Amino acid sequence: MACILITGANRGIGLAMTRAAVRHGDSVIATVRDAQKATALMLLAEEIGGITIRELDVVDENSVAAFAAATTEAPDLLILNAGVFNVRGGIEDPGHSVEAWRDSLMTNVAGPFLVTRALLPNIERSEGRKIAIVSSIMGSSERAPGNAYPYRSSKAAAVNLARNLAAELKPRGIAVGAYHPGWVRTDMGGDSADISPEESAEGLLSRFDALSMRTTGVFEDYRGDAIPF
Ligand SMILES: NC(=O)c1ccc[n+]([C@@H]2O[C@H](COP(=O)([O-])OP(=O)(O)OC[C@H]3O[C@@H](n4cnc5c(N)ncnc54)[C@H](OP(=O)(O)O)[C@@H]3O)[C@@H](O)[C@H]2O)c1
Repeated sequence: MACILITGANRGIGLAMTRAAVRHGDSVIATVRDAQKATALMLLAEEIGGITIRELDVVDENSVAAFAAATTEAPDLLILNAGVFNVRGGIEDPGHSVEAWRDSLMTNVAGPFLVTRALLPNIERSEGRKIAIVSSIMGSSERAPGNAYPYRSSKAAAVNLARNLAAELKPRGIAVGAYHPGWVRTDMGGDSADISPEESAEGLLSRFDALSMRTTGVFEDYRGDAIPF
């Protein structure tokens, strides 16, 4: 039985990974921005147990520090899933504001960095010693078609963050990977997306199982297909 920590666990892929992990027999520290609003997660925790709900806003330094101080567990796997996708248009889309850039880069890049740094002593104490950053195929520079600039740039930077962490943490025996969850039917992915959150969650968890010191630095999707950087 592993201990898994998941950010953004109140809805979408984070909630589906929480459900799947507990069904597999693992325990989950499920983090949410606002526990009062995490109704579906609270119901799940009551229904099946194995879930500890804790508040964490990944871009708020005080929240990260308080969360790290309250977290005495040693998670085998840290899943950095929380993310935002706020504007989708081409270069002239007025939505590409400074605010949109700040929000995307802070949440999708700085957030995973801040949480990783704060939780590093806990991860080092664990057996599993793995970190998974949920990026996106939209962060592939080789497959860049234009549009959704803040999101694409932030997800490319998230892959770069995973690669740098993989290199720096290798001597410390911690494996790090970046993942594309598929196009998933969530608030972010929309109703016409390809796959359910459940299918994505099962696929991602099996890829995280496969992550090792041999494969550290990987960028792949929920089926294990490599994504070009
Ligand atoms: N859906 C897709 O097709 C797709 C495709 C590629 C990659 N992804 C990536 O997969 C991950 C999950 O996506 P999803 O589809 O499940 O999205 P979602 O349904 O929009 O859920 C996003 C989650 O991130 C949390 N979050 C956002 N900002 C946060 C912050 N500052 N601190 C803590 N939590 C924060 C949200 O919490 P609140 O409820 O408090 O807002 C929510 O739990 C994201 O990183 C996304 O970029 C998704």
